[in-house]
Amino acid sequence: MHAMLAVAVNAAISAAQIIHRASGDLNQLTVSKKQHNDFVTEVDKASEAAIIETVRAAFPDHAILAEESGCTDGRSDFQWIIDPLDGTTNFIHGFPYYCVSIALAYQGEVTQAVVYDPSANELFTATRGGGAFLNERPIRVGARDCLADGLIGTGFPFRATDDVETYARLFVEMSRACAGLRRPGACALDLANVAAGRLDGFFEQGVNAWDMAAGSLLVTEAGGRVGDYTGGADFLRLGEIVAGSPAVYGQMVPRLAGYSRV
Ligand code: IPD
Ligand code: CA
Ligand code: CA
Repeated sequence: MHAMLAVAVNAAISAAQIIHRASGDLNQLTVSKKQHNDFVTEVDKASEAAIIETVRAAFPDHAILAEESGCTDGRSDFQWIIDPLDGTTNFIHGFPYYCVSIALAYQGEVTQAVVYDPSANELFTATRGGGAFLNERPIRVGARDCLADGLIGTGFPFRATDDVETYARLFVEMSRACAGLRRPGACALDLANVAAGRLDGFFEQGVNAWDMAAGSLLVTEAGGRVGDYTGGADFLRLGEIVAGSPAVYGQMVPRLAGYSRV
């Protein structure tokens, strides 16, 4: 395993221990609202602190972009992109679908990725050019080549300012075009599940770099494709993502392009 990936894995495991321990007594959780329907708990913060401590100890010069503490500049071209708990709403409710997501980018390109699901004890890892793995076994995107046969993940709009009406139109189109739509509730884990071939595709708008960075490398290293709704490469910055096996991705982009905010 690449030395930098090993650091990311150690960081994810220590964060996941904090999350898993806290999941045993959800009544003790202190939940605060960032905005309407957007929650954060002390577990998100403790998980992030544990990840940053591990990363900083190994690479004191690297820059960090983390959901709860923001951007810390470093003196190198490496940047860690961290979602300490993706799927916080699920976590708060004891719905066992959430994860830790850690990516390392070099000059803006994601090169290492870890997504760890503590409920299922599933560790997804990828190194650029080295393939994608689930608990150390290689994974590939799904083999279905027709969107009509595909199980597709998505994220619903949930913030007060989100345009639910436009999404509702897209929902109708996509639900007619595929075999089933799912809204599991953790973007990074949804992308990992595309990489593992459990979902044939995924699309969501209004997401941040920390929701997408690690999962996007898992998908491409598993043989899939990722982009913004027009198929463009700048999705991490633009906040919208479509991912899938090459065939399904190719059939999703033309349907999503008209909804792009690019
Ligand atoms: C959220 C989850 C959710 C997605 C949201 C994200 P959080 O992340 O990934 O599935 O729909 O856009 O913000 O807040 O639980 O880390
Ligand atoms: Ca997230
Ligand atoms: Ca989060």
